[in-house]
Amino acid sequence: MNANELIKQLLLSFNSNDKEAFFSVAREYIEREKRMKHTQVAKELEKALFDRNGNGISFSERRFKNTLPIPRDSEKGFPLLEIKQYEDSFENLIINDNLKNQLDQIIKEFKDSDILATYNLCYKKKILLCGKPGTGKTYTAHIVSSLLNIPLVSIRFDSIISSYLGETASNLRKVFDYIEQGTWIVLFDEFDIIGKNRDDIHEHGEIKRVVNNFLQMLDNFNGASILFAATNHQYLLDPAIWRRFDDVLFYDLPDDETRSKLFERYLKPLKRDQNINLKDILEKSDQLSPADIKMIAEEAMKLSIIDSRNSLTQKDLIIALEKFLKREKLRISTKEAE
Ligand SMILES: Nc1ncnc2c1ncn2[C@@H]1O[C@H](COP(=O)(O)OP(=O)(O)O)[C@@H](O)[C@H]1O
Ligand SMILES: [Mg+2]
Repeated sequence: MNANELIKQLLLSFNSNDKEAFFSVAREYIEREKRMKHTQVAKELEKALFDRNGNGISFSERRFKNTLPIPRDSEKGFPLLEIKQYEDSFENLIINDNLKNQLDQIIKEFKDSDILATYNLCYKKKILLCGKPGTGKTYTAHIVSSLLNIPLVSIRFDSIISSYLGETASNLRKVFDYIEQGTWIVLFDEFDIIGKNRDDIHEHGEIKRVVNNFLQMLDNFNGASILFAATNHQYLLDPAIWRRFDDVLFYDLPDDETRSKLFERYLKPLKRDQNINLKDILEKSDQLSPADIKMIAEEAMKLSIIDSRNSLTQKDLIIALEKFLKREKLRISTKEAE
């Protein structure tokens, strides 16, 4: 579409109160300015569209309607990626200061990428997120998308890996071709499916080829996005993969202080008894992840709400915690028995 047509579409969508279409056309216009190297204009328009203090349109977790068709697996027709705009705040991500600083730096570099470019420097573009499940790796990508007001593209590895192995490589190519055409926060979530140690003798030769392909595409990636790759099994990745990233963020299980903050955050919606003592709960929740703590807090609040009490008691918390620990024990023993 040319500029006049875009502006016409913009007015039409405004008139019919179709915010999603309005947002989508506005983005296309901005992308057009970028392609024409009108960087400053594009920046100002982006600010006008996204700035929360202005009259920008905001979407909370709505599917982002895009102008280019989403790439699909040609065999089964599944979409290979998903695009969403998130809205959340940095404070909600409870991580240690080290990690916070690393993340802060990534965001700042991206915001100042133009200035960095004048010195021939590039912002941190490819980031590896690793650590145990439920520690906030996927959530981090949502937060970065929110903070920068840029939609998150999540790559679905279940659909990328085709039973037709030649198709897998072609799917990856389609994904990279797509993301190279826009500005996104990109998340290759649980990418170890394709990033597993390339020397593993159990790996089929074709899969190895795909991994090499992925690494090459990562190396050659030159788009204006931030690429995150998340894994729960970083020890499975071979050193060649580590070297490809500009930064590695490691998500540890939360210490006492961080767990306390997590309980505070996830118990916030409900009033609490005055005699609640979190210390006891913190001791017993050693080794639990933020996602586990969220689950326990929600379970405890539900016990109280269903019971028509208007405040949370120590007993609610203990019941929820013990129920969780029992379940964990069962899960681990079942796994060991396998
Ligand atoms: N560090 C954290 N701070 C706050 N909430 C968290 C954190 N980590 C996980 N959560 C909560 O648990 C959910 C699942 O975590 P997720 O990011 O999917 O874990 P991972 O990707 O590391 O396995 C998140 O959506 C969030 O609600
Ligand atoms: Mg995850």
